[in-house]
Amino acid sequence: MPPTCCILVLIIAATMFCVVGAVGVNWGTMASHPLPSSKVVKLLKSNNINKVKLFDANSDVLQALSGSNVAVTVGIPNAMLRTLNSSKKAADSWVHDNVTRYMSNGGTVTRIEYVAVGDEPFLKSYGEQFHPFLIGASMNIQAALMKAKLDNKVKVVVPCSFDSLESGFNLSEVHFRPDLNKTMTELLSFLDKHGSPLFMTISPFITHLQTKNISLDFFLFKDSARPHNFRHKTYKNSFALSYDTVVTVLSAVGYPNMEIVVAKIGWPTDGAANASSNLAETFMKGLMSHLHSNLGTPLRPHKSPLETYILSLLDEDQRSIASGNFERHWGLFTFDGQAKYHVDLGQSSKSLVNAQNVEYLSSKWCVVNNNKDLSNATASALEACANADCTALSPGGSCFNISWPSNISYAFNSYYQQHDQLAESCDFGGLGLITTVDPSMDRCRFPIEIRVSQAEFHRLCNFLWVILLVITLLALEPLGLFWQ
Ligand SMILES: *[C@@H]1O[C@H](CO)[C@@H](O)[C@H](O)[C@H]1NC(C)=O
Ligand SMILES: *[C@@H]1O[C@H](CO)[C@@H](O)[C@H](O)[C@H]1NC(C)=O
Ligand SMILES: *[C@@H]1O[C@H](CO)[C@@H](O)[C@H](O)[C@H]1NC(C)=O
Ligand SMILES: *[C@@H]1O[C@H](CO)[C@@H](O)[C@H](O)[C@H]1NC(C)=O
Ligand SMILES: *[C@@H]1O[C@H](CO)[C@@H](O)[C@H](O)[C@H]1NC(C)=O
Ligand SMILES: *[C@@H]1O[C@H](CO)[C@@H](O)[C@H](O)[C@H]1NC(C)=O
Ligand SMILES: *[C@@H]1O[C@H](CO)[C@@H](O)[C@H](O)[C@H]1NC(C)=O
Ligand SMILES: *[C@@H]1O[C@H](CO)[C@@H](O)[C@H](O)[C@H]1NC(C)=O
Ligand SMILES: *[C@@H]1O[C@H](CO)[C@@H](O)[C@H](O)[C@H]1NC(C)=O
Repeated sequence: MPPTCCILVLIIAATMFCVVGAVGVNWGTMASHPLPSSKVVKLLKSNNINKVKLFDANSDVLQALSGSNVAVTVGIPNAMLRTLNSSKKAADSWVHDNVTRYMSNGGTVTRIEYVAVGDEPFLKSYGEQFHPFLIGASMNIQAALMKAKLDNKVKVVVPCSFDSLESGFNLSEVHFRPDLNKTMTELLSFLDKHGSPLFMTISPFITHLQTKNISLDFFLFKDSARPHNFRHKTYKNSFALSYDTVVTVLSAVGYPNMEIVVAKIGWPTDGAANASSNLAETFMKGLMSHLHSNLGTPLRPHKSPLETYILSLLDEDQRSIASGNFERHWGLFTFDGQAKYHVDLGQSSKSLVNAQNVEYLSSKWCVVNNNKDLSNATASALEACANADCTALSPGGSCFNISWPSNISYAFNSYYQQHDQLAESCDFGGLGLITTVDPSMDRCRFPIEIRVSQAEFHRLCNFLWVILLVITLLALEPLGLFWQ
């Protein structure tokens, strides 16, 4: 055999036996001042991130992704499931508006790979409200994709929360939650029929909150962690254990070979004890080296998840904090696209690249006026917090130990920034004061928001210019300057 052929065989063998699953990110847009989509796409490209999972089908986002060669999962919000179950027509137009439109059109296509039906519709806290619509909605979307001749390119999946399983580190029996039995039976059969993977969230941080007596090291992939046993296998980290829990359940119900996509996994950096950039960095480096080592898990040796989507790309200051104040701090990057720590996501450089040319509001902050009677200030601050983002002030957060009344200033400033620095949003019954001196201290940053209206203003201006040009051309047309 000529040597080039040997090399070829080796390469093919290597790719066959070392299939390292791709790493992507969740890109949510629950932010008061989101980083403009075009800048986010640049951020993805400059960090070699080639897969994103979205929570909806925001047209601005999908447009920005077109031509980028980034593979996309578009999401259907839970609130739409009822309609999509009962109306095939609604499913057809959803696919037409939110998939087909971006995938036809020659060169500038958006690479949509999956439609995610619902966003963790099985979360225990939602009760059973979405269960009756899920399979019908998935089937209608599948049929709509087939009609659009896209079913060979786009798969229909359902992102499942980790609490769909009932298990414990100590439990040898794991199973799907009994209330889910019927829906899950139908879902797995649907996925299997179409060769689609199971999308499953794995939440080491939340598991850590719920199991106080397991060492943090076990969640952070530390070599020093005490191993845990599960069904006669030994686990050195919580990720492998959780992953094999999913494999065990799938095998028990007849799908031992179904592919698994880790739909969300991450470690937050603020808003709770043990949520910090340092620990998140340790976690993420551990996760990446686990995935890149391709050791797999005891039940699926030498096999990585098909894909792994990090929660999350950016911090979002309007995410629901129902399950904790850390929810707004999942980002690898801060809200303005600046890396919180460094990790090799497979881009083979050890550091992340920040977003460039971010436009901010002016260097102005709103603080409490110390010369005023502050006896009512706490009430004003609480009101500000209800409408803004004070999660950094919570126990264990980056601003927890700033003393009173600095914490009042933090609340005032968050409200002021979220309201685009309008003078009247720093009033607070005369207690607010606008300053150009940065009140940040130590770890506690008083952020300045991104300038968002500017971009819209530019777009409006461009639009007006086009209108003006058209009017001018029409006005000059009778002179026969153009068509002679
Ligand atoms: C889901 O859609 C089907 C078909 O239209 C309908 O028969 C069924 O009642 C719907 N389910 C619910 C819970 O509305
Ligand atoms: C397309 O998706 C967007 C965002 O999720 C949604 O608001 C819109 O209703 C969808 N289009 C149709 C026809 O359902
Ligand atoms: C949990 O594990 C401990 C020791 O590892 C054992 O003593 C106990 O019986 C187990 N409990 C259950 C419910 O399996
Ligand atoms: C549903 O329950 C039945 C009976 O307990 C069980 O055999 C089956 O595996 C369960 N299916 C799922 C998907 O949990
Ligand atoms: C954690 O604590 C619970 C209750 O105190 C106990 O049942 C369980 O075995 C402990 N788990 C481990 C891994 O030590
Ligand atoms: C932080 O993690 C350590 C180690 O697991 C744990 O003992 C501690 O309770 C955690 N703190 C909080 C507030 O969860
Ligand atoms: C504090 O609030 C109470 C009730 O609204 C009001 O009566 C009082 O005048 C306020 N005090 C100051 C210093 O503004
Ligand atoms: C807050 O605590 C951190 C360490 O937990 C410390 O480095 C910092 O100096 C403290 N800040 C203030 C204002 O006390
Ligand atoms: C600020 O700190 C004071 C004193 O610790 C506390 O009573 C108040 O609730 C805090 N306010 C906010 C908005 O965190």
